[in-house]
Amino acid sequence: MSVDRPRPLVAGNWKMNGVKSSAKVLTEIHAGYTPGLKAKVELAVCPPATLVSLLSYASVGSRVAIGAQDCHAKESGAFTGDLSAEMLADAGATYVIVGHSERRQYHKERDVEVCAKAVAAHRAGLTAIVCVGETREERESGKTLSVVRKQLRGSIPVDSNSRNLVVAYEPVWAIGTGLTPTVADVAEVHALIRDELRRLVGKADAPKVRILYGGSVKPSNAAELMAVENVNGALVGGASLVAADFLAIAGAYLG
Ligand code: PGA
Repeated sequence: MSVDRPRPLVAGNWKMNGVKSSAKVLTEIHAGYTPGLKAKVELAVCPPATLVSLLSYASVGSRVAIGAQDCHAKESGAFTGDLSAEMLADAGATYVIVGHSERRQYHKERDVEVCAKAVAAHRAGLTAIVCVGETREERESGKTLSVVRKQLRGSIPVDSNSRNLVVAYEPVWAIGTGLTPTVADVAEVHALIRDELRRLVGKADAPKVRILYGGSVKPSNAAELMAVENVNGALVGGASLVAADFLAIAGAYLG
């Protein structure tokens, strides 16, 4: 492994799933996060915001990081129902996902808002997991690379570096569908992201930024996807709700 190659990250995005009793999933993840696995891959779990505090306490000493799924751009104020990055950090989060396609689709978030949220994450000391990815129509009309490039340029703040930024490539048509791009297609988009990162965070730091693949990652396809050049881990939705599946995906790094 070259010195520049980042430590992989497998992050679970629980989406709007989970109640207090779901802490048992985290307990099972802790139990399966063996020293051998710890040596190879970092794990993070991003539960609904209601569980960030509980799971952060449950995770103390385990080295499984806890993340949130969204944040507001402002630190505080009259924004009923919203949560600031500072609040999430205070609750124990160290990561926050921003610009997930479900936020872009259902909450009409544009690159400019995603970028402001990533700035907020950095201000609060969180690592932003910035999501990008094309829709099926965009892929079918040959626009994948231009769409992803535009999202990267619009969504990644200038203060980003390999410690406070993770990029997740999640083709919208692959999320929750069981469909995945070919290995060649994943390699092509991840190469473009690496190239853009050279412009965005500089040539020296760009190789150290983790670029995750997300969209229907499961135990049966994880090894193949994680072996692709410039894939430094996974953002896992559905399969992250079952500890054994999440651990099996991370286990792709055991070789
Ligand atoms: P999925 O979701 O693994 O269920 O396809 C991935 C995501 O939305 O992050």
